[in-house]
Amino acid sequence: MIREKILVIGASGQIGVELTMALRKIYGNNNVVASDLREENDLLKGTGPYVSLDVMNKEMLHVQVIRQNITQIYLLAAILSATGEKNPSLAWNLNMQSLLNVLDIAKEEKLHKVYWPSSIAVFGPTSPKIRCPQQTIIEPSTVYGISKYAGEFWCNYYHNRWGLDVRSIRYPGLISYKSEPGGGTTDYAVAIYHEALEEKKYECFLQEDTYLPMMYMPDAIKATIQMMEAPESKISIRTSYNISGMSFSPKEIAAEIQKHIPEFEISYQPDYRQQIANSWPQSIDDTVARNDWGWQEDYDLQRMTADMFDNLEK
Ligand code: NAD
Ligand code: SER
Repeated sequence: MIREKILVIGASGQIGVELTMALRKIYGNNNVVASDLREENDLLKGTGPYVSLDVMNKEMLHVQVIRQNITQIYLLAAILSATGEKNPSLAWNLNMQSLLNVLDIAKEEKLHKVYWPSSIAVFGPTSPKIRCPQQTIIEPSTVYGISKYAGEFWCNYYHNRWGLDVRSIRYPGLISYKSEPGGGTTDYAVAIYHEALEEKKYECFLQEDTYLPMMYMPDAIKATIQMMEAPESKISIRTSYNISGMSFSPKEIAAEIQKHIPEFEISYQPDYRQQIANSWPQSIDDTVARNDWGWQEDYDLQRMTADMFDNLEK
């Protein structure tokens, strides 16, 4: 059996915390090195090794990969859609250069696998709105979406040209209670639960009828690990896989919350993020992921809401 040593870059972020913990359960605490530019997330402290790392510093990254005998990298550092629109060149630089640094080092050191997430943000206003297919018109309108689309094709290129086993998923908006979201357009669907519990009201920055593809974090972690552990023969997509969990609007999530907190009120004050949301599909067709490696979600809006409140109340 090959002994794997994994480096997670961006481990203190919304996905990183939970993915690092899940990987540590599978591969052993000491075989999963968490790293981030910012300080170690409290939930990770004492659960395994942590290094402070700037993924933009290629030399430093290369030294860590060699020093720690790394065999796989999970690259999660990025600037998300809403923050990206405030500083497009910063988002482009981080999102592209981080990936190129990792792909180059992975190729040079012959790493076994690389994971890099893409997003539903690759789709744009000309993509189909309902059940947006794996292969379709892709004309992203945000800098974040452009960087993800370019990144997908860099992954594909490294796989085709150098045989690098790099795999990717186009996550929908992710909802979680363990760590905070990092500046996306779908972040309202996390904030609404916190505000419902604390204030019994929430002012939403999207219109009430804005449907977006979403997913509960346990499903996102499950999908990531399932895809990464699938045999190479099962991976037919080397750009990035569509996956789907659920789709809902602010009005629908508010109605679900009212089943738990009847006095909860929602109001709407759309801002610049409305335009970003309008450019994305409302739902995703993930037939290819289902057929290739057996993807199947566990959570719908009702089950997720019950679980969010159970955990946030604790
Ligand atoms: P996040 O913003 O919560 O976390 C990113 C982490 O990267 C942060 O902890 C940040 O400190 C770290 N980071 C930033 N610059 C760095 C650098 N130079 N060196 C090292 N670390 C650095 O983001 P997230 O939500 O956890 O997203 C992780 C990945 O998943 C990203 O690629 C994102 O585009 C993708 N994704 C997320 C969502 C979502 O809803 N959260 C949806 C689709 C795709
Ligand atoms: N949740 C992410 C965002 O809103 C989608 O990639 O930016």
